[in-house]
Amino acid sequence: MNRKRLATILDAFKGVRIAVCGDFFLDRYLWIDPARAEISVETGLVAHQVTHQTSAPGAAGTVAANLAALGAHVVCLGVVGDDGDGYMLRQGLHAIGVDENLMILTPERPTATYTKPVIRQPDNTVVERERLDIRSREPLPSRYTMQLADHLETLAPRIDAIVYADQMPEHGAGVVDAHIHAAIERIAAAHPQLAMYADSRQRIGLFRDVVIKPNIHEARAALSGATAAPSDNDVLVRLLAEQTRRPVVMTLGPAGVLVYENGATTHISGVPVDCPIDVVGAGDSVMAALAVSTAAGATLVEAAEIAMLVAAVTIRKLGTTGTATPAEILDIAQRYDRLDA
Ligand SMILES: Nc1ncnc2c1ncn2[C@@H]1O[C@H](COP(=O)(O)OP(=O)(O)OP(=O)(O)O)[C@@H](O)[C@H]1O
Ligand SMILES: [Mg+2]
Repeated sequence: MNRKRLATILDAFKGVRIAVCGDFFLDRYLWIDPARAEISVETGLVAHQVTHQTSAPGAAGTVAANLAALGAHVVCLGVVGDDGDGYMLRQGLHAIGVDENLMILTPERPTATYTKPVIRQPDNTVVERERLDIRSREPLPSRYTMQLADHLETLAPRIDAIVYADQMPEHGAGVVDAHIHAAIERIAAAHPQLAMYADSRQRIGLFRDVVIKPNIHEARAALSGATAAPSDNDVLVRLLAEQTRRPVVMTLGPAGVLVYENGATTHISGVPVDCPIDVVGAGDSVMAALAVSTAAGATLVEAAEIAMLVAAVTIRKLGTTGTATPAEILDIAQRYDRLDA
């Protein structure tokens, strides 16, 4: 891809409309000042002193935040608790320009949160402590996912892409259940041109008629039936594409990404790293880049090239789940010589 082509695609990001359907979490950071630590008179245990809190949309919210930073119009479809954390999550989405009006509020379960205590050391380095996770592990009542499925089908003719972000470890506890899979099948039949992408740590193998974006471990676990996962990555992505009836994008950590489409496999290398990195959320930034790029007119291989640039930008942002802007993408493409003449 040359500079002109990249600039044309990046410029088209701002006209793209994308729905993100999945499990939205609140990422909450508790900033602890160790110099202020107290000892509890009652228990004798340390009482850590939180001097301030910050929060950001996490899980599916990280994909939404990445899409918004790239310039897309984003609509979120998920379920949040009717509680303070849900308010913070929706505020966080609203603050980055994402449409959260279709998020369903429920009094039946808490907003899913990842709480991350972080200690700022005297030398200004930051140490992250054990995360505290709050979420319901019970099945999500199907009336919620039937309502989300209805919203998806109504939106489908008016949007350019849908991303499914299945993040809940427990089967059935998240949004992407049998009703959503049935809606995916109907949407794929009614709107064959609509780009749909899916990511899931535990259940990527359940998706059909969408482009899946597993990492190598998820890809090997995704083949259904008794087939043992092949050791050859080219064979693995071809079998997955036969299973999903769509192209497949498999990420390879620092080695980049493998794209399988129409019988051809293309490897795109990762951007080399020459500085400290933080890979939390790298997969989500790749997902956002793929969806927005193809919706903006890029081929899937071009989209994967752009996704490697986006991941290179976001992993260089330390201590936060980073996002990338079109200007940062152009800059890193030039600095790392990723453009054709
Ligand atoms: N150590 C690394 N060095 C350089 N680039 C990396 C590294 N890890 C990840 N990346 C970049 O991020 C992309 C996605 O990474 P990876 O394959 O680890 O996805 P993932 O396992 O889905 O990540 P996540 O944990 O965010 O879900 C890679 O294709 C690559 O561009
Ligand atoms: Mg991932």
